[in-house]
Amino acid sequence: MVSRVRTVAFQGIEAVPVDVQVMIAPGKVNMHIVGLPDKAVAESRERVQAALHASGLSMPSKKVTVNLAPADLPKEGSHYDLPIALGLMAALGAIPGDALAGYVVLGELSLDGTITAVSGALPAAIGANADGKGLICPAASGPEAAWAGAEIDILAPRSLIAIANHFRGTQVLTRPVASVHAPARDLPDLADIKGQETAKRALEVAAAGGHNLLMVGPPGSGKSMLAQRLPSILPPLSPRELLEVSMIASIAGELSGGKLTDRRPFRAPHHSASMAAMVGGGLRVRPGEVSLAHNGVLFLDEFPEFSPQVLDSLRQPIEAGECMIARANHRVTYPARIQLIAAMNPCRCGMAGEPGYRCARGPRCQSDYQARISGPLLDRIDLRIEVPAVSASDLIRPARAEASEAVAARVAMARAIQQERFARLGPQAPTTNAHCATATIEEIAVPDAHGLALLRDASEKLGFSARAYHRVLKVARTLADLDASETVGRIHLAEAISYRIAGERLAQAA
Ligand SMILES: Nc1ncnc2c1ncn2[C@@H]1O[C@H](COP(=O)(O)OP(=O)(O)OP(=O)(O)O)[C@@H](O)[C@H]1O
Ligand SMILES: [Mg+2]
Repeated sequence: MVSRVRTVAFQGIEAVPVDVQVMIAPGKVNMHIVGLPDKAVAESRERVQAALHASGLSMPSKKVTVNLAPADLPKEGSHYDLPIALGLMAALGAIPGDALAGYVVLGELSLDGTITAVSGALPAAIGANADGKGLICPAASGPEAAWAGAEIDILAPRSLIAIANHFRGTQVLTRPVASVHAPARDLPDLADIKGQETAKRALEVAAAGGHNLLMVGPPGSGKSMLAQRLPSILPPLSPRELLEVSMIASIAGELSGGKLTDRRPFRAPHHSASMAAMVGGGLRVRPGEVSLAHNGVLFLDEFPEFSPQVLDSLRQPIEAGECMIARANHRVTYPARIQLIAAMNPCRCGMAGEPGYRCARGPRCQSDYQARISGPLLDRIDLRIEVPAVSASDLIRPARAEASEAVAARVAMARAIQQERFARLGPQAPTTNAHCATATIEEIAVPDAHGLALLRDASEKLGFSARAYHRVLKVARTLADLDASETVGRIHLAEAISYRIAGERLAQAA
């Protein structure tokens, strides 16, 4: 007799249905798992046998075959333990055979029969709901799965015995409750930063339009400080964005306690990060930093210290908004619509361009260091600013700095204008100027006559690439939105071009 249990395999953030078929037949006493299992799935044989034994069920003295169908889909991870164990229990008559028909099952087993947390409970629950099924998942993953919808039936047992008792009706499991993180109130505030008005303005523009930003300046001028204050002025995630962000975090196993938060992700990987850590991949494919920063910020401090290959691997995700990992036998795509914030010193000693300072290594110190960042990557950065050392007068007697709350209100207003405009273009349109398609930006950011003349002159003099031209338009659109102005004027274009020029010297060095 064959018993069947439905589980899932993850492809990107999608949960693809997998059928676990368990057959007990006369023959040599053994247990086989077939259907393209990886090492963790193959090991589940030992865990399942031990867990069943610990739960008071002995394995039959027969041949047990477990097939994971479809056989050509690679199966990765340890979440196949529970469906295999429940399939076996159904085949042995320990639980009613038809009890599992309405459920998708995932979970890992300990040797003592308890069920431990697995990643991906949220996408699995959403997939199950779409199929009109319920979900059986570990107790620790229950709160996360409960976010898939109030109507979906979720069983989150702690052990094999608990689920068997539930089906027998002796101990009924309660539905887990979806929980949220309390909104963070202790984010670092922009008011802590003395001086640096230009940098703060650029940070506001970057937040308002979702633009990429590069800050260049000597050590101790406040670049890292500025970047860390970006989350305090970004608007919260919209419900659709929240779902996407949580699905990626769930696949990566990073939803602590199954709690969701509407704060935008802010990822700041160390510069020793490998390519697999940055864009995803590794032995078991999982989302990289660029995907974990989806709909949020990827902050790369000490930008040139990252390996050049790692930096260049960001070029495709920044442009496409997703990143594709190709393996020998399958391909995985993770969403990766990010805002890149980078900070660097102008040279190795960090003091190039500082008044009254002469570097012993001469101009090479600067050009060698800056050449570590490729031209095409720089081309993707809309705002480039210089962050000079804070002046003594600013340090000792600073002017009153604006708090994050006031800046966040302006950013929220500019974002609302963008959202309204893009909503008219259809449900799949982006929500920020930075991620708007080039054809659309030419429609929505038509400069007035003076602006057009300035743009033409600047493009000729500075030799803008087609991408640079469109990115200047996008920044100008954001500046106009911050002014609540429908037309893009000369003043907006002038500011947008100025953010571009600051980086031209860097591009030349590269
Ligand atoms: N504008 C500023 N206002 C107040 N404090 C500042 C400012 N800039 C720097 N500081 C002080 O200097 C310290 C270092 O700043 P931060 O780490 O942001 O510098 P950085 O520009 O990132 O330097 P590096 O290039 O070495 O990484 C801060 O912790 C803060 O105490
Ligand atoms: Mg720093």
